[in-house]
Amino acid sequence: MSNLKLPGLIDIHVHLRTPGQEHKEDFTTGTSAAIAGGFTTVLDMPNNEVPITTLGKLRAKIELARQNAVCDVGFYFGSLGDNFQEFDKIKQLVFGIKLYLNVTTGNFLIDEVKLAAIYSAWPGHQPILLHCEGETLPMALKIIRQTNKKTHICHVSGKDELSQIIRAKQAGLPITCGVTPHHLFLTEEDAKKLGPYGRMKPFLKTKTDQNFLWENLKWIDAVESDHAPHTTVEKEFAKNPPFGVPGLETTLPLLLTAVFEGKLTLDDVIRLCHTNPTKIFNIPTDEQTYVEIDPDEQYTINNKHLFTKCGWSPFKGKSVKGKVKKVFLRGEKVFDNGQILTQPGSGKVIYPSF
Ligand code: DOR
Ligand code: ZN
Repeated sequence: MSNLKLPGLIDIHVHLRTPGQEHKEDFTTGTSAAIAGGFTTVLDMPNNEVPITTLGKLRAKIELARQNAVCDVGFYFGSLGDNFQEFDKIKQLVFGIKLYLNVTTGNFLIDEVKLAAIYSAWPGHQPILLHCEGETLPMALKIIRQTNKKTHICHVSGKDELSQIIRAKQAGLPITCGVTPHHLFLTEEDAKKLGPYGRMKPFLKTKTDQNFLWENLKWIDAVESDHAPHTTVEKEFAKNPPFGVPGLETTLPLLLTAVFEGKLTLDDVIRLCHTNPTKIFNIPTDEQTYVEIDPDEQYTINNKHLFTKCGWSPFKGKSVKGKVKKVFLRGEKVFDNGQILTQPGSGKVIYPSF
């Protein structure tokens, strides 16, 4: 079959680690991984070593991306409940505000009182994004019900959580949700084999949970990689290995393989990785930004040709069908047959289009 053309895909959930943890990833390596994986736009999370909670920190990060990115990059803001004076200054610059209600990478946890205060103070039209798993989800849903503010629930991983979200959607709450490729394609059985390389938040769940995600794909608004690179040294030797796995280069081949297996359609992939993200987050798009795929090319995921600085994948050894061949950004060919053709800084920093 000839190459398939897809719109440039959008990953609404990545951690490119800059500034502060450039030993894990930087804007050039992270956005190269995006391009190689068929993603032409990524939205980057604020849980940097020093969290992005002021206009100054956001501006400094934007400048680094402007100089170094090879795909388009947008940002989320962060809050620990003590920076409301910044909200008006940054609301046009970010695609949303990300809040953490459970322990994960970075020291970024807030409680119910702070959550309610941030919900009242957040002025933007852009969504509030929540990391809320387990017991924090009902609490978050209560506050969403009270405030009616647009909310995206990140990386939904299990049956219980998705059931609550479906009920909340049916009741008319203004919520959307995403799932990660690792929760779609790995389970707790894999976690045992992968050791620290299968450790992320939320943890991998049971086969029943995984099946429930697949059976209810119509309720899921986006596939988000939660690309969260950590070095092999950190994973193998830290007393408490950090949470997170890379995903930018494996998400699309895994999804295309699932299309081939009849688990979803190509239209679903476009809906989950392009159309819905543009609508939920007001992401600007360009007709001349697109990806060419060889749907028949079969290969085994390995660590050798990865662009991500961390250099490993939890999907190593998996056989996939469907390979990214060429990527065009605003008409310019930026990727061809495994090679990045463009220079750092050729990607754009993007802002929500209203
Ligand atoms: O596994 C994770 N890693 N989950 C998160 O919520 C954060 C992320 C990271 O920043 O490493
Ligand atoms: Zn994340």
